[in-house]
Amino acid sequence: MKKEGFSSRIGFILAAAGSAVGLGNIWRFPYLTAKYGGGIFLLTYFVLMLTFGYALLLSENCIGRMTGRSPIGAFRKLCRNNGITGKIVATGGWINAIVPMIILPYYCVIGGWVTRYVFVMLSTPVSDFNAPGVPTDCFVDFLSSPVQPAVFFAVFVAITALVVCLGVEKGIERFNKVLMPMLILLIIGICIYCMFLPNAKAGFTYYLKPDWSKFSYMTVVEAMGQLFFSLSIAMGIMITYGSYMRRQDNLVACVNHVELFDTVVSFLAGLMIIPAVVAFGGESAANNAGPGLIFIVMPQVFASFSGGQIAGAIFFVLVLFAAATSAVSLLETNVHTLMQELRLSREKAIICCLVEVMIIGIVTVFGYNLLKNVHPLAFIEQFKNKDILDTLDFISNSVLMPVGAIFTTVLTIWIVGLKKICAEIRPENGKWYRELLYRFCMVVIVIPCLLIVLLNATGLLK
Ligand code: TRP
Repeated sequence: MKKEGFSSRIGFILAAAGSAVGLGNIWRFPYLTAKYGGGIFLLTYFVLMLTFGYALLLSENCIGRMTGRSPIGAFRKLCRNNGITGKIVATGGWINAIVPMIILPYYCVIGGWVTRYVFVMLSTPVSDFNAPGVPTDCFVDFLSSPVQPAVFFAVFVAITALVVCLGVEKGIERFNKVLMPMLILLIIGICIYCMFLPNAKAGFTYYLKPDWSKFSYMTVVEAMGQLFFSLSIAMGIMITYGSYMRRQDNLVACVNHVELFDTVVSFLAGLMIIPAVVAFGGESAANNAGPGLIFIVMPQVFASFSGGQIAGAIFFVLVLFAAATSAVSLLETNVHTLMQELRLSREKAIICCLVEVMIIGIVTVFGYNLLKNVHPLAFIEQFKNKDILDTLDFISNSVLMPVGAIFTTVLTIWIVGLKKICAEIRPENGKWYRELLYRFCMVVIVIPCLLIVLLNATGLLK
């Protein structure tokens, strides 16, 4: 297959940012921040982003640009001639390739929830959400019936599949260039509005002021999982994007932009939702936050001002777009892996991926109703009180991604060598201010950090 390069630096930034910004920023980040103590989670996330996330993002892009391959091929190529060690490290490519296959099904389930809320905003008077209990019931009742969530899930998968089958990614990317800035403007507008909600001050304090007493291993584990998810690292996506870059492109500058953009969107999404949660339900509501947070809180925000109906509908449509572009690139990645590794035709690869998504996705949907009490992995302590969606999310973000990241790190510092990697990254004409930080992170911080996360996730560290 012919590989197309990005025609410009801005092309790369937009593509990488488009895949980075999605439900991770708008749905996942706010609920985790609310649940894990607000300010302290935010601070942990920022620190990890600047050190750990930066190092991995840069390494992955660099590996991609060096080899010009997607993850499995890139690992294989770099590990050649390294004997048995090389063979072991090369399996890391596979871990990187499996993660998006686990994420896509439940990503589409959430995409289905977003689709449903577009309809809710168009068909239900938003003032209904002013009544106590209604916002939660509206979400919980929806989840506990098996049919509706399955239908909306199927609709979302169909949209994604259609885009991939027609090969019109370029078309929606053009859309995205307009819609993404619109989404950000709308979020900023809602943030400003939320500042003036009664009680919002307590919410801002909760979000912005770290409370050290709430810090635990779990804060780091979840912040790191979120970092992987949000930056789309440890799953080969950035290796693939890096492989499209040209020699003369400034890797450091590109990575800086993606990192900055992604973090700003997450931060704003938190600023929009968390003060509102505290304003409407107090701090206890924040501590009990779960994956339904944005679906329960945002309708309340929209119900509290005139014109909220339209704003709400536009909001969910824009989120739907952000989700769809990410889902498309996840599906593309999986299709690409099957085509290259199993030598399937494009059509067959698409069908295989869709069947997998439908099966795992439907099981995830039923996890909230028909299968509520029959969690297949309930015998494992870590999964006891988790729904199927949470379980998939945990396995991919807190277990497989750290493992994948360890492989990437080993590949970078042992197999290829930091010297070669840094020479590749260092821009020809330009400065690389964080080179020392990068080296330090790769050698000293990344592996111990990942090991702690893994041990904790598997329950070995108590
Ligand atoms: N980063 C995306 C988000 O924040 C989610 C995501 C994870 C993703 N892996 C991906 C998107 C791979 C595209 C490709 O929502």
